[in-house]
This record gives sequence, C-alpha cells and structure tokens, in this order.
Amino acid sequence: MAIQQKFFIQTFGCQMNVYDGQRIAAMLESKNWVSTDDISDADLIILNTCAVRAKATDKVYSALGRIRRAKKESALLGIVGCVARESGGDAFRRIPELNFVLGPQSYHKLPEIIKNPDTKLLNIDLGGLEKFDELPQMTKSPTVAYIPIQEGCNHCCTYCIVPYTRGRELSRPFDDVMRDTINAAKTGAIEICFLGQNVNGYKYTDANGKLYRLSDLIRETAKLPKISRIRFTSSYPTEMTDDLIEMFGTEPKLLPFLNMPIQSGSPRILKLMNRPDDLDNYKNIVKKLKSVRPDIQISSDFIVGFPDETDEDFAQTLDIAQEIKYINSYSFKYSPRPHTAAALMHNQISEQIKSVRLQRLDFQLNENQREFNISCIGKEMICLCEGNDKTGRHLVFRTPYMQQCIVDKPDYEISPLQKIKITDANKASLRGEIIK
Ligand code: SAH
Ligand code: F3S
Repeated sequence: MAIQQKFFIQTFGCQMNVYDGQRIAAMLESKNWVSTDDISDADLIILNTCAVRAKATDKVYSALGRIRRAKKESALLGIVGCVARESGGDAFRRIPELNFVLGPQSYHKLPEIIKNPDTKLLNIDLGGLEKFDELPQMTKSPTVAYIPIQEGCNHCCTYCIVPYTRGRELSRPFDDVMRDTINAAKTGAIEICFLGQNVNGYKYTDANGKLYRLSDLIRETAKLPKISRIRFTSSYPTEMTDDLIEMFGTEPKLLPFLNMPIQSGSPRILKLMNRPDDLDNYKNIVKKLKSVRPDIQISSDFIVGFPDETDEDFAQTLDIAQEIKYINSYSFKYSPRPHTAAALMHNQISEQIKSVRLQRLDFQLNENQREFNISCIGKEMICLCEGNDKTGRHLVFRTPYMQQCIVDKPDYEISPLQKIKITDANKASLRGEIIK
C-alpha cells in the first residue's frame, strides 16, 4: 500500500474561515490525505489566515517563521485566506519557502500545487463562488453546521479590510444553500448557522425572477425535522428587514439571540466609519425584535479608538452598551489596515488611550454578561451538547443565547438536546442540571 500523505492545517479568525478550513480538509481527505497535528511530519502545511486586524496578520507571519524551521525540507507550505489576499506576491518575498498563496475564493486551486510541487502558485482573484461547487460535499456534519450563504461585503466601513480581501457581495443560489443544509441535516447537524460577512443582505433571484431572502432560507430550514436550532451571523443593522424580524416571532427554531454589531455609540464616529449613524433607527429595530420575541438578546462588536474618537464619543459607546444590555459581545482596539480609508485619517488615537478605553468597555460588557447570566438562574432551557470539558467529568452545553453551561456528566446515555435547569452562574458561564 502506498504511504499516505499527511497535511497540517491551522485556521485563524472568523467562522467563515473555520468553514473554509473544514472544506479544505474534506477535499484533501477525499484525495486520501490524512490530517496530522505534527508539523515536522506533514507533507503539506496550510495556514488559513485572517487579516482583519494587524495583530492577526502578524500572528500568521510569526507562525510561518516557526514552521519554516520545523517542517520537512520536502513539505509544501502555503497560506490561504485573507492574509494571502492582503499580501499577494509580497508573501513570497517575506517567506521564500512559501509554495502557494491562495486568496479566500481560490483555495479550490490547491490540487494544482500538489500536482506541480516545483512551481509557485499565486491566485488571489475575486468574484467567483466556484469554490463552493468544486469542493466535495462533506460526508459527516458537525452538530452545529455553519453554512455560508453569501461572501464578501458591499458596505465599505472605512476601517474594514474585508471588502478588499473577500470582495464584493455575492449571494449563493437558494437551491445550493438548501442542498448543503439538507446534506448537513442528513449527516448529523442539529443546529444550522447561516454565515456571511453581511448575512442579512442575502438576496438571490432565480431564473424565473423569484427573489429569495434570508427569511426564506430560515423558513425552509425550519421544516427539516432533524434541525432544532437556527441562527445566523453577522447582521448589518439597516438590513434587518421586517420579513426577517417577523421570523423571530413566527419561527420557534430560530434562536432568541442576534448578533447585530453597532461598533460605536457616537453618531459622529459612526459617520466617519461609514456605518448607519441613526441611533434611533437602531434602537427601533431592537424594539421591534423585542415586540415579536420578548426574550431576545442582542450581541455586538465594538471598535474603540477609531481616528478622532474623543472621550465624549467614547462615553456614548459606554452608554449604548449599557442601554441595549448587549451580551456575548466583542470589543477591539481600532487597528489601521492597508487598503482602507480610515488608515489615512487624521487624529489617529494613541495605543495608550485605546487600551484604557478597551478596558473600560470590557468592564461594562462583562457586567452586562454577568447580570444576564445571573438572571438565568432557576430557568429551564433546551441546550445543545458540545461534548466533554477538559476534565472529562462534565459536559459542556450551549444555551439558546450561546452561553456556555457546564453540567455533571450523567452515568447514562443522553441525546444532544437536553432540558437543563440553570443552578448557578458567573460572568463566564452557567452551571446546570439535566432534567430527566
Ligand atoms: N460583518 C463582518 C465583520 C467582519 S470583521 C462579519 O462578521 O463577517 C469582525 C469585526 O472586527 C468587526 O465587526 C469589527 O468590530 C472588527 N474590525 C474590523 N476591522 C477592524 C479594524 N481595522 N480594527 C479593529 N477592529 C476591526
Ligand atoms: Fe466589514 Fe463593515 Fe462589511 S465591518 S465586513 S465592511 S459591514
């Protein structure tokens, strides 16, 4: 029997990258490759990269520095994803050992370099969805299946490199998304998470002129008996159309949790960010959501220290975080990125001020999270099992709000969905008991 070739893949960044990483692994496995965690034993090494903040890019290059010393001489080494697109051919100059640099929409070209290992392969083209068609369907779905429905973003927030790295927005055909969703349900998925950089901007018109939106995907997916939970990420505030808001009232499988980033609470900064700056409109969307689903919770991403952000502007960010009571949120220091307008703006904020603001915002967000977690004590929720914790003595569940809930492992078999009574909480997680 021929010796099986081994690949190592490391994924950085967002859920879309996690999905891309799974597709790459599935493609290699279908060609009889096996995965390894040992870089020195791998014949093919792939870093699946994120460029959203400078730190993310730096991480990739420092990993490459380590890997080029540890790898086998003959091993193929390459980067795929957003750093590949950001760096382009320059990556070969920085790391001469690189064999391939493939952008987020070109990783299906990987077999070319395997066939021609003595060449260098650069492809950072945008504008196609072929990768979705050219890669094999997955044969076993994880319990939570991430299904990309669109790629790229037309919004052009002035700080964001994503429109450059992932390109203009493209929505996948409705039938293709449903084919992947049904396949996931058949092969083990219980939860579907629709993915997109601007997921609620999904719009697909078929040959007969019929328009499909995200609400149509949710309605159709909810009909699948094997699927119990549906969610989607990331949403753009002004694309929360009424048909989508209504789904939260009519479709119980849609989880009562929505990621709808605001980024800043200052209309002045939001304008500079080229984001929707009408806070009343944003609050009105939250109000509508609560009126159809009173228990809904919202999460956000925040950027502190955007160019020209004053103490006053930042205070407005603290105010909105307090007012909306966001849970499960992310906050970042503004990081100037190539190919973005904000990197060229005046009044860049010092690292020191950014750090102080981040700390203050995190304190507020943690307080919100703690308060919400504590308010859950005594409640019963249907939760999805993610597996064992590190000790092996507990099971880790996800609540409908994506909180982590730790439960003592029972001595009997359980199904992945369980009704759990929340018995205790802190800011990081919940404790609970399975209700038999
Ligand atoms: N809608 C997209 C957002 C991608 S970037 C999606 O989720 O697919 C994820 C988050 O990173 C953004 O919401 C923003 O808060 C943060 N971010 C993006 N560019 C940034 C930058 N230049 N500096 C700091 N944070 C940034
Ligand atoms: Fe980036 Fe703004 Fe789009 S954050 S991904 S340009 S909505």
